[in-house]
Amino acid sequence: MNGFIPNRLEGKVAIVTGGASGFGESTVRLFAKHGAKVLIADVQDERGHSLCKELASESNNDVVYVHCDVTQESDVKNVVDTAISEFGKLDIMFNNAGIPGNIEFTILNADTENFKRVFDVNVFGSFLGAKHAARVMIPAKRGVILFTSSSASVVSGEAPHAYTVSKHAVVGLMKNLCVELGQHGIRVNCISPGSVSTPFLTNAMGLEKTAVDDILCQSAVLKGVVPEAEDVAEAAVFLGSDASRFVTGVNLVVDGGYSTTNPTYTKVIKQTFESLGKENIIT
Ligand SMILES: NC(=O)c1ccc[n+]([C@@H]2O[C@H](COP(=O)([O-])OP(=O)(O)OC[C@H]3O[C@@H](n4cnc5c(N)ncnc54)[C@H](O)[C@@H]3O)[C@@H](O)[C@H]2O)c1
Repeated sequence: MNGFIPNRLEGKVAIVTGGASGFGESTVRLFAKHGAKVLIADVQDERGHSLCKELASESNNDVVYVHCDVTQESDVKNVVDTAISEFGKLDIMFNNAGIPGNIEFTILNADTENFKRVFDVNVFGSFLGAKHAARVMIPAKRGVILFTSSSASVVSGEAPHAYTVSKHAVVGLMKNLCVELGQHGIRVNCISPGSVSTPFLTNAMGLEKTAVDDILCQSAVLKGVVPEAEDVAEAAVFLGSDASRFVTGVNLVVDGGYSTTNPTYTKVIKQTFESLGKENIIT
């Protein structure tokens, strides 16, 4: 990215769940670049360790990997306790791990076990991360809790039910925590990305990154930008840093304006005028 302002997280200690891939991985890289000490909490041990190894020299070994299944309270407790034992404090808890679940859009075919699994990771996992972060942040009277929700929290009908509902729940959790934890000097915010061609989306679509990027660019409101995981990481740096010290309770949508519009109506008008051979009223 251009215009890099260094060390915006100097001295801060952060946990990034789902830190071995996609938005989490980009955030780990950018947090470390900005001087933070980072714990990668994930279930992909090989990817997590290799990211630590790669970042070891430039980060002074201040990036560590901790195996953590966010649905297991003992794992989440352990990663927070490791932040304290290794680095003495926890400044930023980024509850980012998430799964899409089955790509099934109809309620009649929706699978019950899948619904529970999506909630377990996306909602319960976020709840556990917030709970254990608050345990150490409340006595410190400071801290930042971030969540990754999704543009599915503001646009309906474009993701499966379980996923959409889980991401609404994350926003609800963020808002409730913002009120409670504000009393203790802790800020709580969400980032809601639009679609980005991380493994999450390429695997769900079963397409190569370039094909997914092509779809995203064609359907984008903001032209000239191919959305990347770094765009979400930049939002996390802002919300994790003191630059956002009075920002709390916000669902920051990072989608190039996609969720501001619904092009269906104008698309049908264009198609209708074309099929009638009439001059289009919409250009
Ligand atoms: N990629 C998108 O288009 C998109 C859009 C909006 C929101 N999101 C959200 O962004 C977040 C990150 O997704 P991504 O696109 O980077 O996907 P990704 O698949 O690249 O990364 C997700 C990471 O979470 C980890 N994870 C999954 N289950 C876990 C568990 N139980 N415990 C710990 N770690 C676990 C995975 O191992 C993986 O490393 C998710 O919450 C997702 O819902 C993604």
